[in-house]
Amino acid sequence: MTHDIAVIPGDGIGTEVTPAAVEVLEALEIDFEFHEADAGDAVKAETGEALPEETDDLAASADATLFGAAGDTAADVILPLREAVDSFVNVRPATAYPGIDAVRPETDLVFLRENTEGVYAGHEDRLSEDVSTLTRVVTESASRRLAEFACDYVEDGAHDGFTIVHKANVMRETDGRFRDTVAEVADERGVATDEVLMDAFATRVCLDPEQFDVVVCPNLAGDVLSDLAAGLVGGLGLLPSANVGPERGLFEPVHGTAPDIAGEGIANPAATILSAAMLVEFLGYDEAGAAVREAVEATLEEGPRTPDLGGDASTDEVTAAIVDRL
Ligand code: NAI
Ligand code: MG
Repeated sequence: MTHDIAVIPGDGIGTEVTPAAVEVLEALEIDFEFHEADAGDAVKAETGEALPEETDDLAASADATLFGAAGDTAADVILPLREAVDSFVNVRPATAYPGIDAVRPETDLVFLRENTEGVYAGHEDRLSEDVSTLTRVVTESASRRLAEFACDYVEDGAHDGFTIVHKANVMRETDGRFRDTVAEVADERGVATDEVLMDAFATRVCLDPEQFDVVVCPNLAGDVLSDLAAGLVGGLGLLPSANVGPERGLFEPVHGTAPDIAGEGIANPAATILSAAMLVEFLGYDEAGAAVREAVEATLEEGPRTPDLGGDASTDEVTAAIVDRL
């Protein structure tokens, strides 16, 4: 069976790390057909549009999409692309790797972040010279869909339940609905949960990340707390993510275009290659996904490494080492 993969490198180091991940995918014994498309600052400068219609259509029809990063136009590209794949959950693992300098080397977490609503639903108003407002949207249906996904995730990965992070003591209606719905679904499914207020979570995860495993959160909390966890494991260059929908997915590194090093050929490809591993698993190839992850982990530990990790290897050298280990 052939899988159509949309490949959208974008700008900056996106154009360096995305081909690296494609090289790794090509080394697998899976029948992929890659379709490359433009998005971001460069295509906007050329055509006036950050996300050309054909790119959006491609993401909406491909089996999965691999995205690099976009510069100033990131929000104009990534939000519609997430919509194009009907993504309702953002999966963000934050794992520390042996041999990599991390604030908390014992960190091994995955955030399942609601990806469609909350304070990012886009309902902001300016009421007067003095007052601006934001309407926070939490629906039972989106909370339920996220919870069902979290239960599947926990069961598939043999995790011991999940933690619901919220602030329902203050946002009683919205986060109250979120917490109650997620807990109810978990209860129906026989999945164990505990809950932590999001501010308390921020402290506890810094002091002792091992007490958490799978973390389910509303949109903004997931955005902020997963970046905090990125700090615990050694920074953005290593963090992959998956935007998962009912039928399609969009896979991207958490980092941006890294203008300070773009064009030098020294970007760390690990985050994008780990995102490609998530893509492979999303398509049902669990063993191939695990093999990619193991090859990346071994390379992080034994080298070669890019300069952000203290090495002096190029993107190409690191990619070749990962492909060799596969
Ligand atoms: P950034 O993630 O691009 O860079 C932050 C720092 O991390 C820089 O020092 C960079 O060199 C380093 N870094 C990031 N990824 C790396 C990698 N793979 N290898 C080695 N070093 C790496 O974030 P920043 O600087 O805040 O944003 C730069 C541009 O990227 C902005 O235009 C922003 O809008 C865009 N951006 C796009 C995102 C997306 O497309 N999803 C996400 C975040 C930012
Ligand atoms: Mg963020």
